[in-house]
Amino acid sequence: MDTDTPVPPVALTARLAQAPTAWRDVEGYLERGRQALRAIERILPDEWTWSNKRVLDFGCGAGRVVRHLRDIGAPVQVWGCDIDPACIAWNTENLGPSISFFVNDLVPPLPFESDTFDLVYSLSVFTHIDRHWASWLLELHRVLAPGGILVATIMSEGMCEAVSGEEWDESKVGMNVYESGQPWELGGPMVLHSPWWIREHWGRLFHVVEVRARDVFDQSGSGAQDDHGAAVLQKSGVTTVTVAELERLNPSEPREASALSHDVLHLRSEVAALRAEARRTQGT
Ligand SMILES: C[S@@+](CC[C@H](N)C(=O)[O-])C[C@H]1O[C@@H](n2cnc3c(N)ncnc32)[C@H](O)[C@@H]1O
Repeated sequence: MDTDTPVPPVALTARLAQAPTAWRDVEGYLERGRQALRAIERILPDEWTWSNKRVLDFGCGAGRVVRHLRDIGAPVQVWGCDIDPACIAWNTENLGPSISFFVNDLVPPLPFESDTFDLVYSLSVFTHIDRHWASWLLELHRVLAPGGILVATIMSEGMCEAVSGEEWDESKVGMNVYESGQPWELGGPMVLHSPWWIREHWGRLFHVVEVRARDVFDQSGSGAQDDHGAAVLQKSGVTTVTVAELERLNPSEPREASALSHDVLHLRSEVAALRAEARRTQGT
């Protein structure tokens, strides 16, 4: 078990939550990581086994989840990457060498041949990527082996009130961005997705196995997690899709326009609030 390995300092785990003190509870931190790994296992197709697989944790942060793959009891090759050099340095020192870690740039590519991984999972990452999401989807599709699976958590119905302060209404949410530009230490930008939007846009590249709007993580016991959803996607034979094609609005889907208009209204109100704040601090 994972009791001998240290847990990362709060300065690193602060990227995971807006209330970093919540992560000072060491056993809680470890248990939430284990629960997240069990959640991935629950949502993977029934025939999945870890044995002899190549796995990438994309946006692994301080290794909260990937560290538990060392206890999986099967021969598995594991990589973890993140844009944060401090997390990757800590992971390399404390969780390597059985897991290989590297820093990736804000934009692709990843340093791998095409068709490398059987599984890429990405927990609470596309929930914060407001730009470059399409190029990252294309890149993860490229590095997956034929038939390989991408599991990406999303914030959807279960997180709508917490993120936006509004009741869930799928006609108002496609891919909506809140707190754009917020630093990672404060949680980063927040992105809400609707399952219909994931199917519409991500489904132009991947075969969509499943999209869950909520209840992906175990909410019971000591380690309650946020009420995230998830998309389970399989590499398709598609090779000609572009960023523009992934982003393109479907004119025959009425929720595209209603969701975009809601997103714009919200962004206007964020800009207005920031302007008022700037005037206050400048004393004008
Ligand atoms: C909320 S944290 C989640 C960390 C980890 N997946 C977990 O569940 O503990 C989001 C992480 O995504 C990373 N991240 C954001 N954009 C990224 C990108 N384009 N490539 C890799 N990592 C990214 C951030 O640096 C941060 O560590």
